[in-house]
Amino acid sequence: MYARENGENYMILNENSEKKIIPIAGGKGGVGKSVLSTNLSLLLAVNGKKTIVVDLDLGGSNLHTMLGIKNNNKGIGNFISDKSLTMEELVVPTDYENLSLIPGDVLVYGLGEIAFEEKKRIMKGLVELDADYILLDLGAGSSLNVIDFFLIANSGIVVTTPHMTSIMNAFGFLKNVAFRFLQRAFAENEVFTEYFDRAFQERNPGEQKPLKEMLEELRHVEPEAVEKAELFLDILQPKIIMNMAEDASELSIAESLKDLTDRSLSIHAECLGMLFMDKQVSDALKERVPFIMQYPDAVTAEGMDRIAKKIIFSKRFPEMPLELDYYKDSFELAHIEAENDQVVMEREKGGGYSPEEIENLVRLVEEQKKRIYELETALGRSALSGATQGGIIDQINRMSM
Ligand SMILES: Nc1ncnc2c1ncn2[C@@H]1O[C@H](COP(=O)(O)OP(=O)(O)OP(=O)(O)O)[C@@H](O)[C@H]1O
Ligand SMILES: [Mg+2]
Repeated sequence: MYARENGENYMILNENSEKKIIPIAGGKGGVGKSVLSTNLSLLLAVNGKKTIVVDLDLGGSNLHTMLGIKNNNKGIGNFISDKSLTMEELVVPTDYENLSLIPGDVLVYGLGEIAFEEKKRIMKGLVELDADYILLDLGAGSSLNVIDFFLIANSGIVVTTPHMTSIMNAFGFLKNVAFRFLQRAFAENEVFTEYFDRAFQERNPGEQKPLKEMLEELRHVEPEAVEKAELFLDILQPKIIMNMAEDASELSIAESLKDLTDRSLSIHAECLGMLFMDKQVSDALKERVPFIMQYPDAVTAEGMDRIAKKIIFSKRFPEMPLELDYYKDSFELAHIEAENDQVVMEREKGGGYSPEEIENLVRLVEEQKKRIYELETALGRSALSGATQGGIIDQINRMSM
């Protein structure tokens, strides 16, 4: 799997680039990668950012359907089979301002694993596109195609659900990403490549040493290269989105994933947010309208908007705009957001307020009434015309905020 190709690395450091490239992967199938690619791209576009979403799920392209576009446009499949095509020629406008699509391989289907030279041509084409944001919808699994496209930038999104298989797949994916990254970066270093090749040949499932341990062993022979490898791993800043959650407490599972990647891979992930399981997401898919357009007021749609805003307002994305005085890290913030969402969703589901909330509301209304009475008395009942009444109500509202 880790065939030696060449040492050239095409990696965009998003914090140093005006144009941000964000690959979206996850290891496991069906976790919501395409739903998130579509809706996050649309939200970036709605917020005024010129955005291109690219269907790089070769063999499983479906973004055109999610965006309600007919599949008769040339896409990545044609780009691979026809060397005269440019990436720019594949850009298709969508019905939405600021958002364009590069379709997948619907017309030239099932190209399988692509040679690294070909991937470099695709990456070069993507990097040269004119946009503020380029989001890449990647396929499931940890094939070299997926991993190499994930490594096009240092801040890809990893989508997972709280289920154990999904978490383990996300971890396995990040492990393969780390190995592939080092293997590509140190292709010229024989000690490294031989060591990694041997480690993979000898491995029994579940018995492989953690990458961190392997680096410790290598440190005895190649101390400088190991130091460099650690700096390289620091550059990777994957962002986790936990999708299809049932309860805010499930965010602790994403934190365990972070701890595991910290400890065994020296990769430091952050959290962009948690999104709840919401039937309206699949309803919108059936209705062939992007979810955030069909159900803009849904709590999950607001959660997606929050993630888009985190990306936009991180001036040097992937650095996150956190108020560190208030939050320990991006996971704690995501936890608080998820808890708030849960309260709103439960209230909507329950169709009303809990007895305690009703009691509180009644108390609030009584207090307001008392204030109105006091104000009315102070001003003199006769002076209260309709217009001034509005003004007073506004004033009371401001006072009670
Ligand atoms: N938050 C959510 N709540 C409910 N359903 C969801 C949610 N997110 C995604 N889904 C549903 O899960 C299914 C899979 O989503 P999607 O196609 O985006 O996954 P994927 O990771 O791209 O899958 P694949 O690996 O096959 O490409 C879809 O039917 C979608 O409607
Ligand atoms: Mg998909």
